[in-house]
Amino acid sequence: MRLPENFIQEVVERTDIEELIGHYVTLKRAGANLVGLCPFHSEKTPSFTVTPSKSMFYCFGCHAGGTAITFVQKAENLEFADAVEFLANRIGLPMPRESADSIRDAGVPRKRVLEMNLEAAKFFRACLFDPRYGSPGMAYLKEERGLSEATIRHFGLGFAPEGFGMLTDHMHRLGFRDEELQTAFLCGKSRNTGASYDYFRNRVIFPIIDPAGNIVAFGGRVMDDSKPKYLNTSDTPAFRKSNHLFALNFARTCCAEQMILCEGYMDVIALHAAGFPYAVATLGTAITPNHARIFARYTKKVIISYDADEAGQNAAKKAMQVLGEVGMDVRVLRLTGAKDPDEYIRKFGADRFRRVLDESRTGFEYQLEGVLGKYRLEEGAEKIRASGELCQVIASYPSAVEREVYLAQAAARLELPAEVLRNSVQRIRDQQQAELRRSRSREAQASIKHFGDRINPESAKEPRAAAVEERVLGMLLLFGEYRQAVASGEVALSADDFITDFHRRVFEELLRLQDSPSGFRPELLGETFGPDEMGRIQKMEVERQGMSENGPEVFRSAIAALREVRKQKEAQKGDLNTQLAYLREKKAKLHKGKVDRT
Ligand code: CTP
Ligand code: MN
Repeated sequence: MRLPENFIQEVVERTDIEELIGHYVTLKRAGANLVGLCPFHSEKTPSFTVTPSKSMFYCFGCHAGGTAITFVQKAENLEFADAVEFLANRIGLPMPRESADSIRDAGVPRKRVLEMNLEAAKFFRACLFDPRYGSPGMAYLKEERGLSEATIRHFGLGFAPEGFGMLTDHMHRLGFRDEELQTAFLCGKSRNTGASYDYFRNRVIFPIIDPAGNIVAFGGRVMDDSKPKYLNTSDTPAFRKSNHLFALNFARTCCAEQMILCEGYMDVIALHAAGFPYAVATLGTAITPNHARIFARYTKKVIISYDADEAGQNAAKKAMQVLGEVGMDVRVLRLTGAKDPDEYIRKFGADRFRRVLDESRTGFEYQLEGVLGKYRLEEGAEKIRASGELCQVIASYPSAVEREVYLAQAAARLELPAEVLRNSVQRIRDQQQAELRRSRSREAQASIKHFGDRINPESAKEPRAAAVEERVLGMLLLFGEYRQAVASGEVALSADDFITDFHRRVFEELLRLQDSPSGFRPELLGETFGPDEMGRIQKMEVERQGMSENGPEVFRSAIAALREVRKQKEAQKGDLNTQLAYLREKKAKLHKGKVDRT
């Protein structure tokens, strides 16, 4: 669900942007503005500006800019809605109901989706236990995957029968409408008729249950090798996959000491059944910082137990990093003789898995063994390479204490003085810092030029159009009269007049907001445009403001220039006759000296 516009507006109005940004940047007064060193790129003279009267910020160096919400998005690395919530919490404003946790607006409340999911879960379970429909699913789970009936019941597993309408009909009978069922991702929408059909068909069903006991989503697995192996619920008003861990609803009560992180639903189920109820899995995605924060809330130690293949091991390294960043004690299991924890337990039993678990290594030890295993240390040259590689690994730890501990371990294993390693780790860190600074300022420079413009990539091909569009948009952003004149049709300007896609989208959104009940407010652009795009929008406004002439004549001539560019482009694309007609027209105008030069 989109946040209500008046709520966003209230949050921005009640946020003191000077006080907010003051927590991140030391600001000095400079006339109506405040200036400081930009937190988003490295600089020695302040080009970062806060304008309290407009509740905006802008950096003349890297062109970051926007509202208080944009600032929080960038500084705290948050999505728009989460940044609004962050600010709302700061000023003690309660979030509007239903919005904190939901993203997709289809007018279907989160509660309604949860009701549908519950009914669907009951339906799937009934199908699994009904031999008329569920015997293939039951046979698969029991015989091929070795699950007991108790485990099947514990996890609420189900079966989605073959055919396109059983769940849909059932849910219709319970009074749920097509639109609701489609929003919940329980039904697809037929491209021809628009009718609903069952999304999950002929699959065993794994319900995803949140710690509060709500069924938030489903995963459905095929019973053979056909593709895709899993179908999963996409984002709904009740579900975003990076916010959930499979089986956290069970693990939450017994995971204070440690948790096991696996890749698959089946791994988790096998582990729980074997007496490790603190195992969880992400929902088919790589682990995100958001997941890491969930772990940090529940436990001290995470033991990563991913698949033994290369993909799994690479993912384990990434997970190690992400979890390490929130200060978790992270360990990694390397299982040998089986492809994943599920298979390992079936082959070797729970006791052996428990032993491996107890011997699990810290993330660093795991990498240490990995590096040492690659080299013959009795050879001087190989030892040097091994120590070089280990210093790289050690240098990547942000904590100085950790680096010291690992230095000592590595030195002992390499039989080298710790001092030597310490120096080279320091050198690597200095280099990394310098490189980071360089790449940040390179990025800042690149974004100034049109070339390689990530925000408006078409500007490289259409520099003239982009420049004129910026003039027009800058004035529309600055002056309500111009927006009004365009919205009312008094000045003819439409989205078709824009050539570059980014600028066209900005124009459309401006007009949409101008016509909306709350009117145009810059913070509302943040719902549609990301923080980098917001910076660009702010740039257009600030640069226009710096011009001495912004009167109606200038506005009109900018629009005329925009038309001119478009006509020229159309002529280039058109047939010979159009091109000739265009040239003749242009020549005539030139004679009258009327052509607007930009
Ligand atoms: N996954 C997915 N879509 C796929 C494949 C995998 O969403 N097409 C997700 C599922 O959450 C799955 C996890 O990635 O549980 C791990 O994938 P994999 O190891 O292939 O699946 P397992 O659940 O271990 O399945 P199995 O052991 O039955 O092969
Ligand atoms: Mn597996």
